Amino acid sequence: MPERPEIDWYDTPRYYDLVFDEDTPLEGHFLEAMVERHGRSRGRRALEPACGSGRLVVELARRGWRVTGNDLSRPMLDYARARLREEGLSARLVHGDMAELELAGRFDLAHCLVSTFKYLLSERAATRHLERVADLLVPGGLYCLGFHLTDYDNLRFDRERWVVDEGDTRVVCNIQAWPADPGRRRERMRSRMRITEAGRVHEQETHWWFRTWDARQVRRLLRREPRLELVAVHDFRYDPEVEITLEEGFDVLLVLRRRPD
Ligand SMILES: C[S@@+](CC[C@H](N)C(=O)[O-])C[C@H]1O[C@@H](n2cnc3c(N)ncnc32)[C@H](O)[C@@H]1O
Repeated sequence: MPERPEIDWYDTPRYYDLVFDEDTPLEGHFLEAMVERHGRSRGRRALEPACGSGRLVVELARRGWRVTGNDLSRPMLDYARARLREEGLSARLVHGDMAELELAGRFDLAHCLVSTFKYLLSERAATRHLERVADLLVPGGLYCLGFHLTDYDNLRFDRERWVVDEGDTRVVCNIQAWPADPGRRRERMRSRMRITEAGRVHEQETHWWFRTWDARQVRRLLRREPRLELVAVHDFRYDPEVEITLEEGFDVLLVLRRRPD
């Protein structure tokens, strides 16, 4: 059995990118469909808080958006820069905390998908994040925020598995979530990756915490930032034609629109 060292999986951006890149064109299409349907601003300036390896930065830049991305991980930002260079594209990538979003500019679209928002572990950080997004959006601009809601009645482990092949690399990624702790509003997460590259195998493991949210807690949070109006809810199928309510599902994608000043 290979050893399984514990690392920050964002220190190995390529493996993250291989696993999560599959839906990227679908997400890009969905974001543009939301702008078309709900946006009241026709500019093409996009902001991605916690942009990671840049899969959506690249996707939106390809689609003609002027993109700004922010992230706390320097290896992820370096990887995103290299991806942009390879494709002859450009974007502004800024190191920093998505709770504060210390960057200049105004945006027509912001988005933060795949539960990344749950890295903000306190109510204060989550509220501050929404406040900063509202500051940075133009009136009529959209914030698409996708994350998995917690079922506090679920006492089982949740597991997801991906297997991805690219060239001579295979990545098998298993993510496990422990049952939530409703008092601390935390859920313990673990990813285990088994990577085969040119016949050599290694494994790595990452542990982290997410903040938990149910529909009621999300509605309470949204009331704290009245400049953002909830105009639609979708799910992780990223189908512009399928709307749900916040209370209806666990994989929710909120479409928030910046109200006029
Ligand atoms: C699941 S990845 C998502 C990346 C990207 N948004 C995507 O859709 O592929 C989460 C990213 O959030 C970043 N991150 C976590 N906490 C953060 C924070 N407080 N501020 C900025 N970035 C953060 C991590 O470094 C990582 O790149």
